[in-house]
Amino acid sequence: MKPTFHPPLNVDWASGVLCGAPLICKTTSLGDLAGVFADQESWRQHDPSQTVYSVEMFDSPSGEGELYVGVTHLNPGRVGDEYFMTRGHFHARREQGEVYFGLRGEGLLLLQDEQGQTRLERVLPGSIHIIPGFTAHRLINTGDAVLSALAVWPSQAGHDYAALANGFALKVTPETVKLMAKEVQNG
Ligand SMILES: [Fe+2]
Repeated sequence: MKPTFHPPLNVDWASGVLCGAPLICKTTSLGDLAGVFADQESWRQHDPSQTVYSVEMFDSPSGEGELYVGVTHLNPGRVGDEYFMTRGHFHARREQGEVYFGLRGEGLLLLQDEQGQTRLERVLPGSIHIIPGFTAHRLINTGDAVLSALAVWPSQAGHDYAALANGFALKVTPETVKLMAKEVQNG
């Protein structure tokens, strides 16, 4: 049988720019993140049109067993003493996991299980994050430059934002980063 040849999809590892197929793009601004940051007074003082993050993903098939591939670009910034972050979510199909790959910038991946237990993983170029099922996830930019991460997830996973209506149990501030650095230093 004669094979057919297809040009591959492509990601620029340094910038996270995707190409090779049509993309779906979504931008989230500060105004879209009502109730997400703890310091509501500070949030109200920011320009609501300021972009916090954008997601680009391939417009690929969405059936059972299919996979989506996309990149999140999270801007640096703070609201009060809290770093810019994604809204974060559980998957609607709770058992389904996801993999993140750090591409550029520096930050944290906040993971929270259904009992409210949290943990943090450092995100940096080349880091790999295997997010298990039943685990909410949020990216946090602790650096001065854009944090970009590639993600691969089951296209049927969906998003459940309502389950986190009261937010994540951990607020990440410069104090958190200092504590983490100390812990790393102490091995
Ligand atoms: Fe996800």
